[in-house]
Amino acid sequence: MKIEWTPDLAVGLDVIDDQHKELYRRIDRLMEACHEGKGKEVVGDTLKFLEDYVVTHFTNEQQYMQRFGYPDYDVHKRNHDYYVNNLKELKNILAEKGPGVELVVKTNVMVIEWLNNHIRKMDTKMAAFLKDKI
Ligand SMILES: [Fe+2]
Repeated sequence: MKIEWTPDLAVGLDVIDDQHKELYRRIDRLMEACHEGKGKEVVGDTLKFLEDYVVTHFTNEQQYMQRFGYPDYDVHKRNHDYYVNNLKELKNILAEKGPGVELVVKTNVMVIEWLNNHIRKMDTKMAAFLKDKI
């Protein structure tokens, strides 16, 4: 099954939507590699991409939320911090054990949860609020 960004996920800010699309493409690439039995070859690249991505992307979202006084900012920011910390743990596993099955599975769990819960639920909620402000 292809992991694909769909227009119902649009936040309405090009910069954020482009970042989300890129995330979907990256995760699709990882899932595709896993189906071909090549997850271990791609997972390191995925984590490297996410390391920069979380800083830029989460900062962008947080700036918009703060600028427009989003009431659920704290909850949303805490959820961002959760992914940042989760990513650190994955990087530690990569450094200590290398790109094995454990790393591939834990990375998959995190990114799928990120798409399904964070982007699909929290980011669309944020978008509904920002829609009238921008
Ligand atoms: Fe977010």
